[in-house]
Amino acid sequence: MENRATEMSNIVQKSFTFEEYEDPKQSLNVSIPEVLDPQYGMHVWPCAVVLAQYVWTHREELMHKTVLELGAGVSLPGVVAAKCGAQVILSDSAELPLCLENCRRTCEVNELPNVLVVGITWEKSPQTFCSSLH
Ligand SMILES: C[S@@+](CC[C@H](N)C(=O)[O-])C[C@H]1O[C@@H](n2cnc3c(N)ncnc32)[C@H](O)[C@@H]1O
Repeated sequence: MENRATEMSNIVQKSFTFEEYEDPKQSLNVSIPEVLDPQYGMHVWPCAVVLAQYVWTHREELMHKTVLELGAGVSLPGVVAAKCGAQVILSDSAELPLCLENCRRTCEVNELPNVLVVGITWEKSPQTFCSSLH
């Protein structure tokens, strides 16, 4: 219980809103829990915001597509893709369980129970990746 409280106090929720310039009725809100920790995968990097905006802009192409996010960390682009109708797999290093925990936490917060979270370490063989999907 105490651990959880400490952990919770290290988490800061950030909100991102994506809007359609020409139609303000089309918008998407995404919440990303960031962890106050110096590891790379604990917060939203500026490039993730740019990629997420790109995903939002191209959302009509995502329906029924499968999207794999590599090195997802807190997973902003993947979550936007999932909210826009893609079947999404989030991944981070299999050796960094806290990063995988972030992927799962972000899915929970955004009510995305069908997003798969897998450990994929880039330098490991593709077979490792395939077996992590089963
Ligand atoms: C610069 S952070 C970017 C995180 C997220 N994509 C973003 O833009 O907010 C790099 C991410 O790659 C992950 N990563 C680093 N080395 C990795 C490896 N060898 N295999 C898989 N993921 C790795 C880190 O855990 C981290 O989540």
